Amino acid sequence: MLLSIESSCDDSSIAITEISSKKLIFHEKITQNEHSDFGGVIPELASRLHAKDLPNILSNCKEFIPKLKAIAVTSSPGLSITLLEGIMMAETLSAILDIPLIKINHLHAHIFSLFIEKEATLPSSALLISGGHTAIFEAFSHKDIRLIASSGDDSFGESFDKVAKMMDLAYPGGPIIEKLAQKGNEDKYNFSIPLLQKKDISFSYSGLKNATRLAIEKNPNDKENISASFQKIATAHLTRECKKYFQRNKVKNFMVVGGASANLYMRDKFIKLCDEFNIKIEFPKLEFCSDNGAMVGRLAVEFFKDIDE
Ligand code: KG4
Ligand code: ZN
Repeated sequence: MLLSIESSCDDSSIAITEISSKKLIFHEKITQNEHSDFGGVIPELASRLHAKDLPNILSNCKEFIPKLKAIAVTSSPGLSITLLEGIMMAETLSAILDIPLIKINHLHAHIFSLFIEKEATLPSSALLISGGHTAIFEAFSHKDIRLIASSGDDSFGESFDKVAKMMDLAYPGGPIIEKLAQKGNEDKYNFSIPLLQKKDISFSYSGLKNATRLAIEKNPNDKENISASFQKIATAHLTRECKKYFQRNKVKNFMVVGGASANLYMRDKFIKLCDEFNIKIEFPKLEFCSDNGAMVGRLAVEFFKDIDE
């Protein structure tokens, strides 16, 4: 078995994966609701909460410790002081048990969230939409994942968080905006799609965020219509850039991963787009969209096979 730890942001999570079957034996996650009133994650607070929560989760799976063959941990990217909490625990366990430590890239782990308890089906292209990133990757194997395009400023999820904060809503804003949008008129505000004139594939959310800010200042109580209009254009920007990518490349398999891949409005738009291009599209199970230890463990299983050979 392999124990994996995630602490790159505001989720403390530990998973235990059976290496040969890829079965998830144990998985627990504590999401830090303490940040909700601040409109974003406070790194020092997050770090202190990881220091409290990770040992509690570990004690819930201590019966499996004698069976462990490796420890895995998210080592980057993320908030340095929160990553450190997971890394310290992982290094300690690896040293005491005298088993290998596998350091995992958080973005690549999101791609492997699709393969939890399954065989990996690669190559595939992937759109990662989270609080920290908006990017297209091409994944050929666990060791060969290439960045194709990314955001030059805010990320998709972050723009939802910031728009929610402007409307005095809690953090994380993504699920709240999505829910408000269901009751709103998405054509009420005419925001423009970012980077319409650009030929290359890239993402940008700061302009849309500022346009939304102006609408909120003028109509502070029109939350449902503003949410719907913002979500429509934020999503249209994703599908427009991915459409360019599909037109220029032979894409057979596509996945949308990351915390914001839980957004059902966005899922529906991508299902339609991929249908147009005859591309197979997949999304992670809703429980594995946001940060979790299971995806870290799933990617680590692939690296463990390399050590073990
Ligand atoms: O992957 P994740 O848990 O953490 C990072 O690695 O950043 O993603 C969290 C982000 C937050 O910005 C959150 O607002 C966004 O994902 N998110 C959503 C939805 N659910 C979570 N954004 C839009 N719609 C959602 N339903
Ligand atoms: Zn993440």
